[in-house]
Amino acid sequence: MNVEIKGFGLAQADNCVSNLDLMKFVETSDEWIKERTGIEQRYFSSFENTSDLGVRASLLAIEDSGIDPKLIDLIIVATITPDAMMPSTANLVQAKLGLNNQRCLAFDVNAACSGFLIALQNAQAMIQSGFAHNALVIGAETLSKILDFEDRTTCILFGDGAGAIVLGQSERLESIGHYSRSEGDLEGVLTTDSIELNPKFKSNVSQSYYLHMKGQAVFRFAVKAMEDAIIEICKKEAIRLDDVDWIVPHQANKRIIQHVASKLKLDNNKFYLNLNEYGNTSSASIPIALADMKNKGLLQKNQKIIMVGFGAGLTWASTYFVV
Ligand code: ACO
Repeated sequence: MNVEIKGFGLAQADNCVSNLDLMKFVETSDEWIKERTGIEQRYFSSFENTSDLGVRASLLAIEDSGIDPKLIDLIIVATITPDAMMPSTANLVQAKLGLNNQRCLAFDVNAACSGFLIALQNAQAMIQSGFAHNALVIGAETLSKILDFEDRTTCILFGDGAGAIVLGQSERLESIGHYSRSEGDLEGVLTTDSIELNPKFKSNVSQSYYLHMKGQAVFRFAVKAMEDAIIEICKKEAIRLDDVDWIVPHQANKRIIQHVASKLKLDNNKFYLNLNEYGNTSSASIPIALADMKNKGLLQKNQKIIMVGFGAGLTWASTYFVV
């Protein structure tokens, strides 16, 4: 049994923040951010949490797919910024979509910026095993919750938002293929503060969850990981890179993507980029890019697409599908 992506949706957070707006919080400039990253603006949420953004993206994906929501029996949310440690954000999405009174399993996946692709891989396996029939696979983040607005090396990079797809059983011959890897980050190149032990048993407790990053180490890892993930998915799926219509990368930094393009001798235009508008939305960046492409009429039937992501963990992954 095969699966196919049947619908796409995205949700922008309400508050559009330009690079110039950020200069009110940190010592930076529009030119520096644009030149080093390609980012011009991002959206931050002032009233919706991660599950709310996930619900909005899901409603659009369900509408786009044309399926009856009663047929959804699996919801996976990829996120590193859940509403709470429990219940899972996916459970909250299930309730807010009014899907509590049907057989459905909901859970979260944390694989940072590779999370959406890992969630998709899991959903596909669960459909192909016969466990589920139609899945909502969501990448949703409110990264503004974990940004230190006094750290100009990180807070300028990220944004909030959500993207969702409906994945369902299919009669089609083409399958969706995946490659994914991880490696424990002992150097702490991409982390948040740890969740502290109970203060009753420990002193000096700090309770912030800020994101920390060794930018240049992440840059080097990102280029290597994306190159590996693209080459390996082509080998595994027996496809030629030249025959691929679009590469939809995790939207971290334009310079990272240009480096990957040059190492693989590919035209920059093969990579779909919308990070100028959204910044880096971690797990949400690839499904937002997909829905954005769909909305702009850029996804055409039978096109060959590679999605590729990397992130904290460390994790990296790629997925190949035919539209
Ligand atoms: N505005 C102005 N100047 C800045 C800023 C800023 N926002 N941030 C840093 N600088 C300064 C630094 O202080 C430094 O100044 P100095 O030369 O006087 O010491 C100078 O700019 C250069 O700093 P670098 O860190 O060398 O800048 P670099 O070219 O490496 O760019 C960046 C930094 C954009 C963070 C880059 O390293 C990068 O993109 N790394 C990858 C980040 C990434 O993709 N992270 C997401 C991972 S996905 C996930 O899982 C969450």
